[in-house]
Amino acid sequence: RSLRIGLVPADGIGREVIPAAKKALEAVGSDIPKLEFHDLLAGFELFTRTGTALPDETIRILREESDCALFGAVSSPSRKVAGYSSPIVALRKELDLYANIRPVKSVGANPGGKPVDLVVVRENTECLYVKQETIVPSETGREARATRLITERASRRIGKMAFEIALQRARKQVTIIHKSNVLSVTDGLFRETIRAVPRLPEVGGKYDNVRLEEQIVDSAVYRLFREPEIYDVMVAPNLYGDILSDAAAALVGSLGLVPSINAGEHFVMGEPVHGSAPDIEGKGIANPLAAIRSAALMLRHLGYQKGGDRIDAAVNQVIEEGEVLTPDLGGRSSTDEVVEAVLKKI
Ligand code: NAI
Ligand code: MG
Repeated sequence: RSLRIGLVPADGIGREVIPAAKKALEAVGSDIPKLEFHDLLAGFELFTRTGTALPDETIRILREESDCALFGAVSSPSRKVAGYSSPIVALRKELDLYANIRPVKSVGANPGGKPVDLVVVRENTECLYVKQETIVPSETGREARATRLITERASRRIGKMAFEIALQRARKQVTIIHKSNVLSVTDGLFRETIRAVPRLPEVGGKYDNVRLEEQIVDSAVYRLFREPEIYDVMVAPNLYGDILSDAAAALVGSLGLVPSINAGEHFVMGEPVHGSAPDIEGKGIANPLAAIRSAALMLRHLGYQKGGDRIDAAVNQVIEEGEVLTPDLGGRSSTDEVVEAVLKKI
């Protein structure tokens, strides 16, 4: 049976890097099933043209006719736009993709300094991203409020995911990132729930060899920059995980290198960590490696280890050789030239 992949490039450089990831998948050949692609619409540009950022048809094809997906990026405006809501946040919810897994690993001599090899495991469905915001007039000017939702269920399943990932890694360490010293109720529940995961009856002691650490989020960022080697798996609520993974990307030289998958019980969606990069859109210089690595991560999550490894090895070789790189990594090559270099290695 073929592997059915929904492609949602969405906005900006998403449209430049998702075709690159598609080519890398096609180049893998015999280590994975025959591929079948669905081109799907979403994004802010689509919204400005049609009034819809995430068509029902896109959700339907992802749900009913796809085994997995690749998402590019959306250009969500920083101001409130009536009727618009981010399609990526909606998709994560619609498909219950509760874990955002973001490995950050340096290749060769890390241009950013010390070697980095960590995974940010970000809760993907709640925290402040439930987007329950209200604004009311008050005597002293307007007052804006947001709801921050943390549930035991979501904290437990993201905690289990973090331990599961740690088990497969050499260091076997999980660090809970929180701010329970201030937000003792919400972050307190997140922290406590994850601390209790190794003792859950259904876990049956399988995480006994995983070291459990914790760190307050602000000092975690500080230490991440000074001593990234102390981290292995970092598990965080949605907002902290979002910020931490961009920060970690700086340590390996570029956001254009860092992949992710959004994973749930029944579906997985690869997505580069970066956004739509309007400053370089249309110039043909977007780094395609984050998107290509996201495709590899997606394959491995689906159990196609060999196919994923082949793509990753090709990407790593291109980075190590350092001859064909986009400008964000100090190179002079175009997106297409980097894609060609990767395809040759695959
Ligand atoms: P961004 O990640 O798009 O760009 C930040 C900086 O990194 C820019 O200078 C950009 O040129 C550079 N960069 C990012 N990816 C790159 C790549 N592949 N190759 C070379 N350089 C790269 O973040 P920014 O500029 O803050 O946000 C732009 C838009 O993207 C906003 O509308 C934001 O809402 C959206 N966004 C969407 C995300 C998503 O779809 N998941 C995630 C983050 C931002
Ligand atoms: Mg982000």
